[in-house]
Amino acid sequence: MPKTQASIHSPTPANLRRLAAALRRGELVAIPTETVYGLAANALDAKACRKIFRAKRRPGSDPLIVHVTGLAQAAGLAHVNPAAIRLARHFWPGPLTLVLPKKPVVPDLVTAGRSSVALRAPAHPLTRRLLRLAGVPLAAPSANPFAYISPTTAEHVRQGLGTRIRHILDGGPCPVGVESTIIDLRNPTRPRMLRPGAVSAAELARVLGCRVPVPRGRRKRPAKAGQIAPGLMKQHYSPKTPLRLIPTLSRAMAAKLPCDAALIYFRRPIARTARVSEYWLSERGALREAARNLYAVLRRADRGGHGCLLVELAPVRAGGLATAINDRLRRAVSRL
Ligand code: TXA
Ligand code: MG
Repeated sequence: MPKTQASIHSPTPANLRRLAAALRRGELVAIPTETVYGLAANALDAKACRKIFRAKRRPGSDPLIVHVTGLAQAAGLAHVNPAAIRLARHFWPGPLTLVLPKKPVVPDLVTAGRSSVALRAPAHPLTRRLLRLAGVPLAAPSANPFAYISPTTAEHVRQGLGTRIRHILDGGPCPVGVESTIIDLRNPTRPRMLRPGAVSAAELARVLGCRVPVPRGRRKRPAKAGQIAPGLMKQHYSPKTPLRLIPTLSRAMAAKLPCDAALIYFRRPIARTARVSEYWLSERGALREAARNLYAVLRRADRGGHGCLLVELAPVRAGGLATAINDRLRRAVSRL
């Protein structure tokens, strides 16, 4: 494993060609997507994909998402059913991952021995170009050390994995900011959402013409490795500083806190308190902006030397992104 710091490559045509060649040779490249940065390897090369697990310290029981250019490439890797075709036509390229029965060409290591594979066509133009240049599908989990906060900038990737990988493609900050929605389509008549993201259950139901059950907000017991979506493991996306969730933060609450605590508001507070540090996800309470800022703010607060972080939940009027933000916050709170 490289001891030197990873290089952050600007997206010039020559760099994209070099990085595509590195991927074809079996090397790892961190790539920008519209959701979060991914740590990519040639999905058809088990030896290359093994490096992903090693770099992230990810358990081999947690399967990888495979990134494709679109439906045609997906159909080479999985048994694509009519529901999948419908969703892919509607939402791809974009933040939706489909779990489908896999074809033998996908190495067992990628799917952690499962008979299904998770597929997504990302919308980020640089990664789409890289996928085309590499000419192979790319397995890529989020580019963070296992269970830490996902990266939404190239610098976040370098902070977490800089000494364990060589190449990071800089695509700027990720415009969505939370990981893709995952839908289980192994049985197309009974679709099931496994992870909430920017594509809501209501949107999926509208396109499919049937109900799409959403995962329950809080599990009584943590999911174990080996269950259907280990990304739904109770602890995930966690800062190192202890974190508590508060439905709505108030100034009165701030007055009672120890002064090394920090508050993370959903929306910038009108009246500020000088007693404790304050952060916010959005200036005016906009969900998209809050999702985009979520991980950067959590990272900043985690590096702020605070004794604990109190985070306000997103208001769940609209579902969709608010559900996704709160899902990630709940997992960030849990300790193993
Ligand atoms: O937005 C995203 O999905 C980002 C970007 C990089 O594409 N990727 C991402 O990957 O979030 P990762 O590995 O952090 O999360 C993928 C989740 C994991 O929870 C994994 O367990 C689940 O997808 N998964 C992968 N293959 C699966 C399968 N065959 N069945 C069920 N869940 C699967
Ligand atoms: Mg992840």
